[in-house]
Amino acid sequence: MTALIHTILFLFFHVFVSSTFSSDADFYAALNKVVDWVQHDPKCVFNKTILDSETIKSFPDCETVFAIIVVNENTDLTSSQIKKYFSKLTWITGGLRVENSNLTDLAFLPKPEQFTFCFYCENYGVYIRNNSNLVAGFKLPAVYISGNEDGKKNCRFEVENNPKLNAGMMCNGTYLHTDTDIKVVGNLKNCGCTPDVVTENCLSEFAEKTYLAKGLHLTKLNETNQLIYLSNVNQITGAIDIQNTNARDLSFLKSIKNIDFPSVSSVVFNLQNNPEMTRFALPNISSINIPEGTKLFNFENLHPDFCLTIEELIQFFFRHKISFQNIHAKLCNETGKNSSDLMMCGFESMNKLPNNCNIILGDLRVEAGDEMDIVKLDSVYYLFGSLTIRNTKLEKMENLQNLANVAYF
Ligand SMILES: *[C@@H]1O[C@H](CO)[C@@H](O)[C@H](O)[C@H]1NC(C)=O
Ligand SMILES: *[C@@H]1O[C@H](CO)[C@@H](O)[C@H](O)[C@H]1NC(C)=O
Ligand SMILES: *[C@@H]1O[C@H](CO)[C@@H](O)[C@H](O)[C@H]1NC(C)=O
Ligand SMILES: *[C@@H]1O[C@H](CO)[C@@H](O)[C@H](O)[C@H]1NC(C)=O
Ligand SMILES: *[C@@H]1O[C@H](CO)[C@@H](O)[C@H](O)[C@H]1NC(C)=O
Ligand SMILES: *[C@@H]1O[C@H](CO)[C@@H](O)[C@H](O)[C@H]1NC(C)=O
Ligand SMILES: *[C@@H]1O[C@H](CO)[C@@H](O)[C@H](O)[C@H]1NC(C)=O
Ligand SMILES: *[C@@H]1O[C@H](CO)[C@@H](O)[C@H](O)[C@H]1NC(C)=O
Repeated sequence: MTALIHTILFLFFHVFVSSTFSSDADFYAALNKVVDWVQHDPKCVFNKTILDSETIKSFPDCETVFAIIVVNENTDLTSSQIKKYFSKLTWITGGLRVENSNLTDLAFLPKPEQFTFCFYCENYGVYIRNNSNLVAGFKLPAVYISGNEDGKKNCRFEVENNPKLNAGMMCNGTYLHTDTDIKVVGNLKNCGCTPDVVTENCLSEFAEKTYLAKGLHLTKLNETNQLIYLSNVNQITGAIDIQNTNARDLSFLKSIKNIDFPSVSSVVFNLQNNPEMTRFALPNISSINIPEGTKLFNFENLHPDFCLTIEELIQFFFRHKISFQNIHAKLCNETGKNSSDLMMCGFESMNKLPNNCNIILGDLRVEAGDEMDIVKLDSVYYLFGSLTIRNTKLEKMENLQNLANVAYF
């Protein structure tokens, strides 16, 4: 039997590390994505996987540099040493990662306190994380950070876990953001209540809002009755990140209609460490619009009973071709009604299977003697279970040609 089942799209369970580059190849791929997108002078591309005392010697002597600048624990430079090489720089197209470094300030970004320094990070982002000695204050430069103008490609701006950093100024006028998806958490000071940036302390200010332009990041919330303030939101541009909350599900997004995720390869929808979350339950799931493109979700460490319904899987996860970094979920027990006029059948055997099933629930086995019944699979679109075909005299798999998705929990 030639088992070429190219029509089957498995629900991905792949591991994707977004926080750091797991290999040089990932770095080059990300940088290529940055430079391929724009007209650039090859002389002004900085193509080094890390900034250190060796690589900085080849830093381009250009006003606009195309780069993903990586400063990390292996960087043997101080901010003032970096600054010498960056003196001409006014634009970085690409991004910046300052992670696990020993930098004490970011004053290497030129011309502090003026908006003459810009990141154009539509295809990347700015990440400043886990820097134990990074301090706050006047040494933080004023920076203009911009994603894509149509708002479809928000740049990521994440400032996280810098225990000495007063990052309050990074959310207001001092850092000018357009089309940027801001996450400032776990620092000495984070953003207070600033327009557009949803934080757990400011939820009440969103009571009238219908549009969240900078994503939805809730990273510590134990008073879930506050979530009612988000019930008018019908559009979110940016990533959704809900961590360490007591939320039971997402039904608080009562009016949600459009979600414009950033088109990045990292996670755009994160549900993590929400110990009471048993359901997804995004309302009106079949009419939510999401743009085409890569969408990586992460459902991690939720309530042990967290489950997805068949309707959610079909109307949302399959329809939008969502893939997962982790999917700590089960299939919900309530198999419920026939979803959207599709005929759902439990599987016992090929012989007992009805003729016109569109959804099969259970482990589908086709074995010796089932050859005549195989036509019953002609209009099966979705299988929730495993697929085994063995010891048959079948020569072709054409009866499975409508099978679009298999989800096995
Ligand atoms: C930052 O530190 C946390 C906790 O130690 C770790 O889980 C995370 O992976 C680190 N992030 C980066 C980018 O190194
Ligand atoms: C960067 O260098 C790598 C390895 O030499 C190469 O494969 C890649 O094409 C270069 N990328 C750019 C944008 O120059
Ligand atoms: C990190 O910076 C601090 C303060 O500048 C310094 O005392 C320490 O030696 C540095 N550590 C490393 C590993 O460079
Ligand atoms: C931004 O916030 C910081 C501290 O949160 C404050 O000192 C500064 O004046 C604010 N700047 C503007 C322009 O609002
Ligand atoms: C939520 O957490 C805060 C800070 O830890 C605490 O003061 C407050 O009592 C908690 N509220 C509830 C309802 O647990
Ligand atoms: C669900 O979406 C449809 C189509 O956009 C709309 O007509 C309907 O009112 C929505 N229902 C709710 C409960 O929001
Ligand atoms: C489904 O029901 C079984 C038995 O009744 C139970 O053990 C299991 O936890 C339930 N699963 C979910 C996801 O609720
Ligand atoms: C789905 O509909 C068919 C008839 O159209 C019915 O035989 C079957 O029992 C229904 N399944 C469920 C789970 O309601």
